[in-house]
Amino acid sequence: MTAIAPSPDPAAARVATPRRYVMCRPEHFTVSYTINPWMDPKTPVDRPRALAQWDILRAKLESYGHTVDVVPGEPGLPDMVFAANSGVVIGGRALSARFAHEERAAEGPAYHHWFSGRDLADLAPASETNEGEGDFAYAGSRILAGVGFRCSLSAHAEVEQYFGLPVVSLELVDPRFYHLDTALMVLDDDTIAYYPAAFSPAAQDVLAALYPDAIVADENDALSFGLNGVSDGQHVFLDPGATHLIAALRERGFQPVPVDMSELRKGGGGVKCCVLEQHSRRDRVGGA
Ligand code: ARG
Repeated sequence: MTAIAPSPDPAAARVATPRRYVMCRPEHFTVSYTINPWMDPKTPVDRPRALAQWDILRAKLESYGHTVDVVPGEPGLPDMVFAANSGVVIGGRALSARFAHEERAAEGPAYHHWFSGRDLADLAPASETNEGEGDFAYAGSRILAGVGFRCSLSAHAEVEQYFGLPVVSLELVDPRFYHLDTALMVLDDDTIAYYPAAFSPAAQDVLAALYPDAIVADENDALSFGLNGVSDGQHVFLDPGATHLIAALRERGFQPVPVDMSELRKGGGGVKCCVLEQHSRRDRVGGA
């Protein structure tokens, strides 16, 4: 007699864990300079709309049980809303950002000052150019890192040393996807979604070898900033325009939570750009 095993319910395997995030309300958001192909100072920004979208994102994250710490924005720093760029925080250690462009340089010390008031075991300013979680994605036993537009391999070496975690360098080749978090999203410690064409052939090979089960996004997903999402292991907060990606996430047992950040897109950012995670350390080789 052959028993037919029930097909596994993928949703049952996904587990959300409560996260702690950093966000900065877009009170001073505007587009007054161009440092990525999405930014056009001639396109007017509807700040009340940006504020409303941001408020909804914050409320959504909180309604799923997550904690959001809010950093006050500063006048004259219109991109400060993109808190993902403020640094990298893992297991109580924080490395605050050093920005590639002069226009954002003052955000480094502003965020560093905010971090210095937190209960952190260690805090240092990056000495290499480093735009935080824009280019560094913590994935449990390793950190995935973008190189090519905003940071260099020496920044990867600094992060590897500071956090004592292996950094996997991935070359970005399409200026529209100038930060890693526009082209790749960590869903849980074993699962990622990414848009292959944003990476060099060598980086595509590395990703295919490390994550053979990855969700592969299409160009529309990537252009909709769908990969610029935030996952708690089960719920994935992302742009509603990423229709193929949303269906693929559902199929794999994740629960997509659409959040429209179209006004912030004028600055070249989406959901993830507005959110830095203060990660607890999740690798299994000791560590806080
Ligand atoms: N205007 C900002 C810049 O070009 C957008 C940053 C988006 N942040 C991100 N994590 N991708 O620097």
